[in-house]
Amino acid sequence: MCGIVGYIGPKQAAQFLIEGLKKLEYRGYDSAGIAVYDGSKINVEKSVGRLNVLEKKVEQIAPKGHVGIGHTRWATHGRPSDANSHPHTDCSGNFVVVHNGIIENYLHLKEKLIAKGHVFTSETDTEVLAHLVEEHYQGDFEAAVKKVLADVEGSYAMVFLSNYEPDKIICSKQDNPLVIGLGDGENFVASDIPAIINRTRKTYILSDGEMAIVTKDSVWVMNRQGVPVSKKVFEVHWDAEAAEKGGYEHFMIKEIYEQPKAIRETTAGRLAKDDSSIIFDELKWTKDDVAAIRKITIVACGTAYHAGIVGKYYLEQLARIPVEVDVASEFRYRSPLVDDKTLAIVISQSGETLDTLAALKEAKKLGARTLAITNVVGSSIAREADQVIYTQAGPEIAVASTKAYTTQLIGLLMVALYFAAFKGTLPEERIQAIIRGLKQLPSQAHEILEDVEAIKTFAKEYGFNEDVFFIGRSLDYAVALEGSLKLKEISYIHAEAYAAGELKHGTLALIIEGVPVIALATQRDVYEKTLSNIKEVKARDAVVIGIGMQGDEEIKKYVDHTILIPVTDKYLAPILAVIPLQLLAYYAAVTRGADVDKPRNLAKSVTVE
Ligand code: F6R
Repeated sequence: MCGIVGYIGPKQAAQFLIEGLKKLEYRGYDSAGIAVYDGSKINVEKSVGRLNVLEKKVEQIAPKGHVGIGHTRWATHGRPSDANSHPHTDCSGNFVVVHNGIIENYLHLKEKLIAKGHVFTSETDTEVLAHLVEEHYQGDFEAAVKKVLADVEGSYAMVFLSNYEPDKIICSKQDNPLVIGLGDGENFVASDIPAIINRTRKTYILSDGEMAIVTKDSVWVMNRQGVPVSKKVFEVHWDAEAAEKGGYEHFMIKEIYEQPKAIRETTAGRLAKDDSSIIFDELKWTKDDVAAIRKITIVACGTAYHAGIVGKYYLEQLARIPVEVDVASEFRYRSPLVDDKTLAIVISQSGETLDTLAALKEAKKLGARTLAITNVVGSSIAREADQVIYTQAGPEIAVASTKAYTTQLIGLLMVALYFAAFKGTLPEERIQAIIRGLKQLPSQAHEILEDVEAIKTFAKEYGFNEDVFFIGRSLDYAVALEGSLKLKEISYIHAEAYAAGELKHGTLALIIEGVPVIALATQRDVYEKTLSNIKEVKARDAVVIGIGMQGDEEIKKYVDHTILIPVTDKYLAPILAVIPLQLLAYYAAVTRGADVDKPRNLAKSVTVE
């Protein structure tokens, strides 16, 4: 986790550093710091707490200088504190470093450095980098950093600055993102593109093992051995506005409202005009390739994992391929039965989640073919996978994932239909009906978003309850899991999702008078059974909010309140049904005064194990 920025050029560095860090706060926000070279020495300012604490400090001090680096932190080694905030310095104060990732052998390195007389002032793994460069420095900054890279094991994006050679920034990356923004007489370094798009749209995206020497007029990229690497300029086409809140109170609600657009863009060019097929120009599968897949294993974390559970229903029911779904952090440690007849599908909004990336590497090692579904072009996961499908959700800034989830479902559904066509497991008319439904989704999602008053009222009414339960069967159960995660993570209400038929095996004991139960009943094939489960909780005096499809008069007889989504195909219902749950979570969090976009203890991109 953590966000990194760097600037070198004619302007005041501190100004860009703070501006860039603000755009990266979603990567971590328990402390922040900057280091600026003032013409004779490097001055470091850092403080625990949100970025605005540092910003105030910097406003008062107004550090002058044209080269600097900055960092916003999400603690891994060492609690959030001033001392543990980055940048970190060596003993002499001649070298500073910011780092994102984990130096796995830091304890061993630290002991060796202490034995040589180095004095440490923080509990972080990062500080060893500053002392190492000091240790290796013999008049050549670049050579010293190369030696540091040879010493360390782990994952990192790191940026160094030195009093000895203040005309350059040196950076390198392994398993964590780093981009270089190419300006005119100035250059930028950042963990992620939103930090620099207001300044430049031309970038180099560094690959693992690369190191860059950045001056105001040049950028030299090389591998760890010092062999030059020629980089292609990656032009960013995002609208700068797209990374801003654009009039909404929070990024999360803005992103919820962006779903019709995100769905439209994710399906754009991929649905045949005559509804007959899915077009994936980026996938190079043949009938034989698809026939050779014996098993699909889906691996992801959090919300993306919940998308994977929906994907299991899609791929098994439509393409008739057996599917396992794993939480990425468990996958590697259970000796998974994966071989060259397995397709591993990894799902990740950021494309940087370390557990998912590691699972992808493991699946590849075991011989699987790999397919990534991700939202970030050029991300680590996108680069590691054999094939990639990009969701076109645009930047997702709020920690709680919304538009990424719905577009992940669409990606998975399109893959299932694409495979089904090769395998002949679905009649043509069925494929056409689902594709027609997909084309209607943006306007149907819009319709839900146009009418949110009832949801706001429920959020106010039940937003202070201690516990909330979500129930559903089949695809509704998969959506219930995501609904409960959304509520938990941003409103801090204890929420649980259960397969509705499973309640009586234990959980029913928790249902007492007044407990809100959100019951999803969009799936006709299990509808009657879901109604029976609704009656079970009503008999224990729960307050039930039923989520069904328009025209469902039956459900109204058994629940206290209803939310009806537009009529759609059973496979498309999860994509619409989750929207009221996202809204409910959002308005509950607002009712409780929670920090919606930055829930406590969480960060957007989890690049540590
Ligand atoms: C929850 C949420 C997380 C992410 C998870 C994986 O709202 O956003 O659970 O889904 O951390 O992140 P990505 O998709 O970037 O791999």
